[in-house]
Order: sequence, then C-alpha cells, then structure tokens
Amino acid sequence: MGECGGEEGRDGEHASVERVLDEWASCVSEWLQEVRERVLPFVQAQVGAGRRVALVTSGGTRAPLEGNAVRFLDNFSTGQRGAASVEYLMAHGYAVVFLYRSGSAEAYQRHFAAITRAPAAALQVADDGASLQYTPADRKEYQRMVVAIERYGACVAERRLLALPFETVFEYLCGLREVARALAAAGRSAVLYLSAAVSDFYVPLDRLPPHKMASDGGPVQLQLQPVPKLLGRLRHHWAPQALLVSFKLETDAAVLQARATRALHRYGVDMVVGNLLHTRRQAVTLYSGGKQRILEHDAEETELEARIVDAVVAAHGRHVSQGSAR
Ligand code: PMT
Repeated sequence: MGECGGEEGRDGEHASVERVLDEWASCVSEWLQEVRERVLPFVQAQVGAGRRVALVTSGGTRAPLEGNAVRFLDNFSTGQRGAASVEYLMAHGYAVVFLYRSGSAEAYQRHFAAITRAPAAALQVADDGASLQYTPADRKEYQRMVVAIERYGACVAERRLLALPFETVFEYLCGLREVARALAAAGRSAVLYLSAAVSDFYVPLDRLPPHKMASDGGPVQLQLQPVPKLLGRLRHHWAPQALLVSFKLETDAAVLQARATRALHRYGVDMVVGNLLHTRRQAVTLYSGGKQRILEHDAEETELEARIVDAVVAAHGRHVSQGSAR
C-alpha cells in the first residue's frame, strides 16, 4: 500500500522529490558529508552492540529569503520536546541520533542553563583559579542539573548519542534522508521520532535575490514553493521497517484531529503525536491504529515527554516482536 494507496502510480512524484533533495544536497554538500561520515559508523556500532536506535528530530527549520541571507522564514519550536525525549529514550537504553536546530534546546545541556542564568553573586572563581564555584538558589533545579551532568557523562562514555545540528530546511531534509537511509541497517530496531517543526514553504535557490532585499521599494512579493513531504519516502523507501512516529502541531482542535488521522492513512505513519500550540506542555493526543489516547502532564516532577516516550517505547516493543513473529 502506498501513500494514497497507490505507491506505484507515484513513481514520478517520488523521482521529483529525490531530484529536489539531490539539488539541495549539492548546496549543503560539506555539511552533509560530515553527517554521512559520522552517522554510518555510529549506526553500525549500535547495530553491532544489539541496541535499538532512535532518530529524534527537533527544533524549527529556517528557509532563507535571500542568497546572502539576512531574512528567513522560521518555524516555531524551542526544541524542548525533542531534547527531553532524547533523555528519556537514552534512559530506556536506546542509542540516539539527535538531528536538532542549532541554538534550540539540547539534550542534557538544557539543564545546565541554571548556571548561565545565575546572578553574578552565585558564581565564584575557585581559589585554584582554574574552576568555578556555583551556589544554587534552587535546590531542585540544582539536583536536576547534577543528574543531567552524570547522565550526560555516561552517554558520552558509552557513545550512545550522536548530536547533529542543522540550520536550514535544506540541511534538515537532506540530513533526514541521510540518517534514515543509514538507520535502515537497524531494520525494525529503529524508531524515527520526528518532533521537528518543518517549513512548509521555501524560495527555490535559483530564485533567491543574491543580496539583502531593499526595504524602500514598496511591497515585496514572494513566490513560495511547497516543501516536498518526506513521510512517504521514509515509510516506503528510506527506512521502511522502522517505527515511524510523526508529530503534528495545530492551533485548532478539529484541524489537528483531521490532519493527524490523515498522516496515519496517507503516509502509513505508525503513530502521530498531536498537540495544540497553547496546551502542548499540558497534553498531547496519540493517534495510532484507529485509536486515540490523551496523555496529560499530571505530576510536577515528571515531564510530559517521559509519558510520550513510554508510549513510543511500548509501541516499538510490539513492532519488534511482530517482526520476529513473521
Ligand atoms: O519544540 P517545542 O517548543 O517543545 O514544541 C514541540 C512541538 C510543538 C514543535 C512538537 O511537539 C511538534 O508538534 N512538532 C511537529 C510540528 C509540526 O506540525 O510540524 P510539520 O507540520 O512541519 O510536520 C508534521 C510532520 O511531518 C512532522 O513529523 C515532520 O517531521 C513531517 N514532515 C514535515 C514536512 C516535510 N516536508 N516532510 C515531513 O516529513
């Protein structure tokens, strides 16, 4: 079964998606080469160690409006959901490729921000002159930071986390293809957890004005092209055996319901995590196999992402055992 029930009839469309990505890949070739060099050995090592591997995408993409870009189309996302999810997946024993927007929240390091926010009086250069002393104002925040530092150290030592920062929508989508293809080697042991917020539109590279657009020439007209959807490519071509979890952010509950269920049927996604902009920290709805389940943030000490990841890990367990029962 294809994206709309007719994968074969869509060969032309798929070829054009690959062509667009190939064109972008040539523009971000240096960045992509680095991704390739890092991701292939990482995935091979994790598969060799018998670990489950997740790709977590996070943060918003940006699409330039100029060749030497000063202005951009940017998607909203702090990266908090993705970064927290990485930590919970790691706690479940997963190895994680974290494809995240540079400058957005980073796994573990998001807890260290307490230090950079601290007033000067809370920081002191130690007597040895080579280290800092930090006096926390908030014990709970401090405890979280200590735990994060320990866990971060452990995951670095175990080489279970590969962090790949991206900037533009071109890097994101080419990087997604690269990582997904590498993850195909993990078969059903792979999870694609796509929490990034991806630009729906872009200005084609050959139509970008080379320099900063003038602001004194009256209204500016932009012709935006739709960004090709990649969920179908992921499902049917790049990592067909992986558990595919996509996210959907909307501002209207009825629209969310319609678009989340459409992604299940149209692209063959295994689970959609739906959320509304203003309540995304309080609740999400999981759509999967014709069922819906609401997860709520009910305890101050537990982040909602812990519950989302628990549900994904349980679904992944079933996905893996269905594969071995075949
Ligand atoms: O980062 P936070 O501030 O913590 O907020 C978290 C969040 C609200 C950003 C997150 O929970 C969320 O909902 N992320 C998805 C936002 C969204 O609706 O993205 P989208 O419409 O661009 O994409 C929907 C899905 O299709 C995504 O899984 C995306 O990876 C996928 N997609 C999108 C575009 C594209 N060209 N190809 C794709 O496959």
